[in-house]
Amino acid sequence: MSRTVISGGLVITANEELEAEVLIEGERVVALAARGSEVAGGWREGAARVIDATDRYVLPGGVDGHTHLDFPFGGTFSADTFETGTRAAAWGGTTTIVDFAVQSRGHALREGLDAWHAKAEGNCAVDYGFHMILSEVTDGTLKEMDGLVEEGVTSFKLFMAYPGVFYSDDGQILRAMQRGADNGGLIMMHAENGIAIDVLAEQAVAAGRTDPRYHGEVRRVLLEAEATHRAIQLSRVAGCPLYVVHVSAAEAVAELAAARDLGLPVFGETCPQYLFLSLDNLAEPDFGGAKYVCSTPLRPSEHQASLWRGLRTNDLQVVSTDHCPFCFTGQKELGRGDFRKIPNGMPGIEHRMDLLHQAVVEGHISRRRWVDLACATPARMFGLAGRKGTLAPGADADVVIYDPRAEQVLSADTHHMNVDYSAYEGKRITGAVRTVLSRGRVIIDDGRYTGSAGDGRYLPRATCQYLD
Ligand code: URP
Ligand code: ZN
Ligand code: ZN
Ligand code: ZN
Repeated sequence: MSRTVISGGLVITANEELEAEVLIEGERVVALAARGSEVAGGWREGAARVIDATDRYVLPGGVDGHTHLDFPFGGTFSADTFETGTRAAAWGGTTTIVDFAVQSRGHALREGLDAWHAKAEGNCAVDYGFHMILSEVTDGTLKEMDGLVEEGVTSFKLFMAYPGVFYSDDGQILRAMQRGADNGGLIMMHAENGIAIDVLAEQAVAAGRTDPRYHGEVRRVLLEAEATHRAIQLSRVAGCPLYVVHVSAAEAVAELAAARDLGLPVFGETCPQYLFLSLDNLAEPDFGGAKYVCSTPLRPSEHQASLWRGLRTNDLQVVSTDHCPFCFTGQKELGRGDFRKIPNGMPGIEHRMDLLHQAVVEGHISRRRWVDLACATPARMFGLAGRKGTLAPGADADVVIYDPRAEQVLSADTHHMNVDYSAYEGKRITGAVRTVLSRGRVIIDDGRYTGSAGDGRYLPRATCQYLD
C-alpha cells in the first residue's frame, strides 16, 4: 500500500494542536507521531511521498453540510454542476459535501434521490452525501423516510418558507418530526414564516418597492425568530432533535440559545455570508444587490456579533455555505423589476475555510474552533464521524495543508466556481489552501488541480452522532 507522510506541520483538529507527522497508507490515516521523532523518521524513509508542511497547518478536509449543486429554483438551475462545484470545493479545502436532493411535488422521494445520484455519480471531485428535501409530507413520503434513513440518507429538510414550492404547514412539519423521532432522521428546518413574508412581498411590489434590498426588508427578522421558535416547540412536541439551517438573525440565535439552556437537542448553522456581508450589500446600486439575494436574507451588520458569539458559545455549532450560485447575467437578472423573481442563493463553496481562517486572524474564533465548525462537528452532525472531519488513525486521509501567512484577494477572476461574480470581490484574506488530499490522493498540489471528475465517492451516512 502506498505510504505518504506529511511532515513538519502543525496538526490542528477540533480537540488539539500537535507538532506531528501524519502517516497515510492507501486511503486512510494510520498514525500520528511527534515531529522529528525516531518513529516518524522511519516512516519518511519508507514513504512513496513526503509532503513538507513546514510553517503550515495540517487540517482535516472541510465538511460542507449545506450545498445546492444543479438545484432547481425560480425557473432556473444553480450554476455549479456536481463537477464544477465539487472541484471548487476541493480548491477551497472542502473534501466532503452533503448536498440537498429534491423531491418534486407529486413524485416520490425515491425519484428525487435517484435523480440526484444521476447528477453526481462519476462527476464529483470530492466525496458527497445527500440530505433529502421533503417538498410534500404525505403518508407515502413519511413512509419513504424510513427506507432512506436505512440506506444512509439520514437528514430531511423542511421549509416554513416558499409557499406553493417547498412549504410545509405546521401539521405536516409535526408529522415529519414524529417520523424523525421514530427513525432517527434529523429534521433540518428553513425557519422563516413564508406565509407572512409573501404578504409583505406582495405589498412591497404593489407599492413600487421592487429593488433587491426589499427582499431583505420583507423577510423580517421577527419572521425568522417566530419560525425558529415555532420549529423548536414543534420539535419538543414530537420529541426529535432539530437542526436550523442558515440562521442569520440575532433574535433567532436567542431562540436557539434559550432552547439549549433548557437542555433541548436543538442545533443551529450559520454561513459565511451572514458573518461577513450585510443588508448594505443588498442595497448596492444598479441591481447589484441581486448578487446577495438569498434566504434567510443578509441582515444589518449589528446581527453579526450575535452570530459570532453563538459560534463561540456553541449555541451555533456549524458553519456551512448554503452554496447556491446563480450568475448575475441571465439568472439574477430574472428579477429586474420584481425582487421576488430573483433566484435565491449565493456562491460560497470555495471560500468557507478561508473566510473562517480570516475569522481566526481577526480574533472571532480559535484555530480549533475553526476546525470544529467547518470539519468535525458537521461530520458528527451528519453521521460521518470516524471517517471525516478529523485526523486520527482510521479516518479517511482527507487533509488540507494550509499556509496561514499567505495573502490572497478573492475575485471572480480567480475563483473556480462556475458563476460570473464573487460575493467577496476584492476581499483580502490572510491564509490560503496549498495542498489537498482526498482519501490519500493529492487533488490540489501546491496550487495545481491534480484530481479528476469521478474521484469523489458517495457516502451513505449514519444517523446524527452529535448526541452520542
Ligand atoms: O437562498 C437560498 N438559501 N437558496 C437555497 C435554498 C435554501 O433555502 O437553502
Ligand atoms: Zn413520479
Ligand atoms: Zn433554506
Ligand atoms: Zn440551502
